[in-house]
This record gives sequence, structure tokens and C-alpha cells, in this order.
Amino acid sequence: MSAGKKGGNALPTTRPHDPWLEPGGGTVDAAPAPQLFSPSELFHEASKLCPGDRALYRWIGYVSSSPEMHATLSRPLVGYRAYPPIPLPPTRRAAALPFDAVVLRRRSRRSFGAVPMDLSTLAEIVRLGGGVSHVLRTPEGVNWPFRTAPSGGGLYPVDLYCAALRVNDVAAGLYAYVPTDHCLQQVRQGDLREELSSAVPAHRDSIAGASACLILSGVMERSKFKYGERAYRFLLLEAGHIGQNILLAAEAMGWGAFPVGGFLDDPVNHMMGFDGVEVAALYLVLIGKEDSP
Ligand SMILES: Cc1cc2nc3c(=O)[nH]c(=O)nc-3n(C[C@H](O)[C@H](O)[C@H](O)COP(=O)(O)O)c2cc1C
Repeated sequence: MSAGKKGGNALPTTRPHDPWLEPGGGTVDAAPAPQLFSPSELFHEASKLCPGDRALYRWIGYVSSSPEMHATLSRPLVGYRAYPPIPLPPTRRAAALPFDAVVLRRRSRRSFGAVPMDLSTLAEIVRLGGGVSHVLRTPEGVNWPFRTAPSGGGLYPVDLYCAALRVNDVAAGLYAYVPTDHCLQQVRQGDLREELSSAVPAHRDSIAGASACLILSGVMERSKFKYGERAYRFLLLEAGHIGQNILLAAEAMGWGAFPVGGFLDDPVNHMMGFDGVEVAALYLVLIGKEDSP
């Protein structure tokens, strides 16, 4: 019954009944049918793919097989190359728990005991969260690095940052994680707890005891140039994939993690130096040693 944007149909004028919200069943006749649609509904409609989107499919096919594109994707991002890299310790196999136990144990842990985190633990969490896991050799002989979390077209529009609050061997501050080099690059120095607390006022206590806050940001154009409006869906999905990797990695290593979507956008973007439009914070994950389960 879809009123497809390209199908020439008008948008529906009544809402489908959601039995989950109204378990008693029945109709929604009592509520006036809204004539205006929310921005999220309009966005969802505008980003639907239709069989007639031939120009878009041709463009996607062209980009996917373009040697120039492969060469671009094989190069490290230029973003923070001016900052001195901080190499991360090599892999530490700390996860003694089997995968199913980790998945079943994962909870959002909100209460942290102000315990400093070793750099090797942080290194493992970011590596499993969004590090390079394998390298694809393209037909032209270019090495294209792929990561632990899937990404539409392998474009990796979501970047990972770490606000080090209590991490041994690194100064408090904001760091960009560079997956291709498995290193951190400092973007800002200083204690970010107060700034972070103002941006996430509902979770001041969690921030006060946390060891690190990982910030997942989206660089819109990195995916949008290829996928158009659909790209924004991809960015959010990809942040979810990386976020879950981080949550499971932390759980596996005996650390607690707390995913936060309810943050004030402008203060977080300001803290990060993002414009909030082209580049924007999407998701935060606080990590710490759980205080009392
Ligand atoms: C996208 C997303 C955003 C979230 N944002 C918040 C948040 O802002 N504040 C909060 O207290 N919990 C937040 N959570 C955590 C949920 O409340 C939590 O996952 C839910 O209660 C289920 O509990 P569990 O994670 O322990 O299984 C978020 C979870 C997700 C997936």
C-alpha cells in the first residue's frame, strides 16, 4: 500500500493501525487522521529506492567499479594527519568468554567506579569496534581496507573518536581513531568531563565515573555522493553496527558500556569541532568499570 515517491501516488491520508501500540485492536477512527507528515516520515519516503531509479543505480555501479574510487578508498583519511600519531598497543586477546555468553550478558551499564582504563583495553575496544579486519585486493591491484563493522559500499562514513577521561598513558583529551594505522591522533587536550556533562545532562553521574566516551560521527558526503538521500539511513545503520561491536567488546573484556543517543547535539558537535550538518555526532558510548551491578 506504499505511496511511493516515484510511483506518482499521493501520500496516504490515514495511518495504518499499529497493533503493538494498541494491543486491544480496534480502529484509530477516534484520532483525526493527520494530513501533514513528520520530517522523519517525509525523509523515509524521500529515501526509498524504487525500480525506476535507474540513473542512481547506474551511478552506484559506476562508482563501485571505478579504479579512481578504489584508489581513493585505499588511502588513509587526511583528517587529522597533522597531529602526531599515538600508536596503540598490539592486540591483546583478553576475551575468555564465548561469543554467546558475551551477547547474553550485555547490558547498558550506567554506573561506573572512576577506574582508569589501560591503553591496551581501549585499543582493543576501538579495534574490535571499527578497526581494519581485512584488506581486499581490487582488480587494479589496490589494497582496500575493510573493517569489523559493515559499511554501505565500503565507504566508511562513520568515524570513531575517543574522549579519554581516565586512560592510562594518554593525556586527558579528545582523540581520533585512525583504523588504517590503528593509532590515535589527539585533536584536543584537556579534561572534557564538564563539557560532556553539559551535553548529556541526564547522565552526569555516568560521565563522572566513566573512563572513556567514544563518539561516533557521520561524515555525510562520504556516503551521500554515491547513495543520495539513502546515505543518511546507511550512516545511522552503520553507527549502530559499530556501536554494538563496541558494546560487545567492552562486555567481553569485563568493562561496562552505555550507549547514549539522548545527547544535546549542538554542545556535542561544538565539543567535537563539527558543524553538525556535514559532519555530526551520531552516537555516544560511555565505557567504565561497573560500580555495582
Ligand atoms: C540507539 C540507542 C540510544 C540510547 N540512548 C540512551 C540514552 O540516551 N539514555 C539512556 O539512559 N539509555 C539509552 N539507551 C539504552 C537503552 O535504554 C537500553 O538499551 C534499553 O533500556 C535496554 O537495556 P539493555 O541495553 O541493558 O538491554 C540507548 C539505546 C540505544 C540502542
